Amino acid sequence: MTVAAPGASAHRGDAASAASSHDTVLVLDFGSQYSQLIARRVREAKVYCELVPGTIAAAEVRRRQPRGLIFSGGPASVYDPGAPHPDRDLYELGIPILGICYGMQLLAADLGGEVQPAARREYGLASLVVDDPAGLFARLPRELPVWMSHGDVISRLPPGFRPVAHSLNSPCAAMAGPGGRLGIQFHPEVVHTPLGRQVLRNFLYSICGCSGTWEAASFIETAVNDIRAQVGSGRVLCALSGGVDSAVAATLVHRAVGEQLVCVFVDNGLLRTAEADRVVDIMSRQRHIDLVHVDASDRFLAALRGVVDPEEKRRRIGRTFIEVFETQARQLGQVDFLAQGTVYPDVIESTAHDTVHAQKIKTHHNVGGLPEDLRFGLVEPLRHLFKDEVRQVGLALGLPEDMVWRQPFPGPGLAIRIIGEVTRERLDTLRAADWVVIDEVKRSGLYRQVWQSFAILTPVSSVGVMGDGRTYANVVAIRIVQSDDGMTADWAKVPYDVLGTISRRIVNEVPGVNRVVYDISSKPPSTIEWE
Ligand code: XMP
Repeated sequence: MTVAAPGASAHRGDAASAASSHDTVLVLDFGSQYSQLIARRVREAKVYCELVPGTIAAAEVRRRQPRGLIFSGGPASVYDPGAPHPDRDLYELGIPILGICYGMQLLAADLGGEVQPAARREYGLASLVVDDPAGLFARLPRELPVWMSHGDVISRLPPGFRPVAHSLNSPCAAMAGPGGRLGIQFHPEVVHTPLGRQVLRNFLYSICGCSGTWEAASFIETAVNDIRAQVGSGRVLCALSGGVDSAVAATLVHRAVGEQLVCVFVDNGLLRTAEADRVVDIMSRQRHIDLVHVDASDRFLAALRGVVDPEEKRRRIGRTFIEVFETQARQLGQVDFLAQGTVYPDVIESTAHDTVHAQKIKTHHNVGGLPEDLRFGLVEPLRHLFKDEVRQVGLALGLPEDMVWRQPFPGPGLAIRIIGEVTRERLDTLRAADWVVIDEVKRSGLYRQVWQSFAILTPVSSVGVMGDGRTYANVVAIRIVQSDDGMTADWAKVPYDVLGTISRRIVNEVPGVNRVVYDISSKPPSTIEWE
């Protein structure tokens, strides 16, 4: 759970400092659903990379001194009125550019070529035939499977450009021009283009001359220096949620400024078995971080009494959190900064233009904000990292694996996995069932392979038979999904014997449950959480 302090005088770490000692590549986002993925792939190739709006000013790009630019794909057609175009002065900067799909068509249209609707849309897997095995296609076979998704094609190349690959429906599926300007019609960032990483590496290393020094762990030293510079002798407050991001953020800040950090852990009583104890044990007893542990479970339960509407649950949990947190913060005396575990996808989502992530439906921001007089400067050391990088940093900082690899867990916790009213008794039932799920998923080696695995306490009771008697007891549902980012998800094809063991153990070990069902719906249309 993070705390939003709207209007806070944010002294956020400047992007330039994260990048200062590393080559940087900028991905210009023209609205593709894959833009974030391109940035991740570039980082995986050990080149620091940021996602910026496609319309970023050339002067800003020059200031950041990137080694290369990547134009993302996008849903528009380049000649559409209102279609996003890059600042034309970008082309004067002499920086290599890789255009992907719509990005390639932009290059063609802006530099004097021509784009037309394709006679046949090309969507899905295609076979790319390489005509020039140098440059982008070095160290790759002459024919490779690629993922296509486009309705327009380049009908005339810009002056100085030549085609370097083709496919059945795209006579020019890749083009190369002077000054390291390249275009590809396919998507190298998706898993369906298995050799796409090598195409990107060729661009980054051979064409842009990047040296590949970026590693999440090497970021620690820079981050520690940045935090010290920002915080000076000020006091920093950090809210721990039990999750990876806030734990890693707190540990980094602690490494930077030691006793100037104080953490508050509000136990809302909606966590899983043993999680609250684990937070206190790791952060306070093992790492000697100054930690205030507030057991507010009664208060949260009282706030949830009689509430069945999921959004109302979220609102009340958010409000109660702020109240409890505020009381604690006031008791701490002078505090200058608030440290938060904001990660890069949060930053991208909050700044993305409307075409991207338009479909956030639930009130995911669980916390409404602190009052005016409690506004601090924000310390957000992870705001340039992807989740997998946060995990690497956590491991490099010595946090235990089970904390670092914890699956995502919603801020409102078990409250949105109890369908209907949340009571202490129902929480105990769900917690016990959830424990069995996690235990068995871990035992079978699936924990890290799946995105989330959990139990839901349904409002349904069903008839059963136990021993000689009939029972009328709760139905528990199991949800185990695979996903890359939580935006889409598929139900996991977990082996039957694992499901069988989970079911048997829950019915045997959890009082009040006599039936277990497995959720076999995918997102969309079904969300991951039931509420
Ligand atoms: P859905 O249920 O929308 O969930 O498919 C997508 C991802 O978001 C998590 N989730 C939440 N996280 N507060 C959170 O911090 C919330 O209110 C919330 N609701 C859903 C969910 O666990 C999944 O990873």
